[in-house]
Amino acid sequence: MQTILKTNDLTKKYDNKVVVDNLNIEIKEGEIFGLLGPNGAGKSTTMNMICDIVKPTLGNVEFMGKDILKNKKELLGKLGYIPQDLAIHGNLKAWENVELFTSLYGIKGAELKKRIDESLEYVGLLEKKNDYAKTFSGGMKRRLNIACAIGHHPNLLIFDEPTVGIDPQSRNFILEKIKESNKNGATVIYTSHYMEEVEAICTRIAIMDNGKIIATGTSEELKKMVKADTSQITLEEVFLTMTGKKLRDY
Ligand SMILES: Nc1ncnc2c1ncn2[C@@H]1O[C@H](COP(=O)(O)OP(=O)(O)OP(=O)(O)O)[C@@H](O)[C@H]1O
Ligand SMILES: [Mg+2]
Repeated sequence: MQTILKTNDLTKKYDNKVVVDNLNIEIKEGEIFGLLGPNGAGKSTTMNMICDIVKPTLGNVEFMGKDILKNKKELLGKLGYIPQDLAIHGNLKAWENVELFTSLYGIKGAELKKRIDESLEYVGLLEKKNDYAKTFSGGMKRRLNIACAIGHHPNLLIFDEPTVGIDPQSRNFILEKIKESNKNGATVIYTSHYMEEVEAICTRIAIMDNGKIIATGTSEELKKMVKADTSQITLEEVFLTMTGKKLRDY
């Protein structure tokens, strides 16, 4: 499999505090790559550097074989980013939100209309296309956020904790959609601190803590690093053993 995204010593410092520390990850085409880590691990900062929202202090990101910051025009349009903080506008209708984001990529006219409906249908919101986003539930807003990021048909989809604070039904819907997008050809980066989600959908997982990647592998490989009999250990315990921390407090 070909490498689609590679970070080279990617580093971010805020006031001399290193929040992403010499990150070297390599993601292959067709993967659902999970980035798993507790609050403050540096996951969102990493995603924001990949998408050119935060400037790296050091290092770079190669996407489809080229430095992303040196080829923004060509490459940023091939990325779809679903940020942790909702990026939709409450005073716009659902379809207008999707229009706003999709048109940024130069899609116009009949094709734009088609993409808007297709994206809304994909997230199960076509019937609500004329409703204002501010009238939506948390789960519906998350789904609309996804619709806004897929209209330009990106090769790589980056989800930053898309299931936080939503009902189980919307959550399962989003996870199924991520798997479907992947089957349809998109490579996916999935950031979360929900172990069970990462285990359910990701083909490979990187464990991140304090700005560093501690280990990378399939769920089975990560378990093997800690215990020979992998049936005797959960990924939650692997994390605790590797970092001395609980992934989240219940
Ligand atoms: N703009 C900023 N200025 C200063 N510090 C920042 C800034 N953005 C993030 N940080 C710090 O960087 C660290 C990593 O934050 P980040 O949001 O990347 O973590 P995360 O892994 O996404 O956490 P969460 O699971 O809570 O979303 C945190 O300590 C955070 O306080
Ligand atoms: Mg985050």
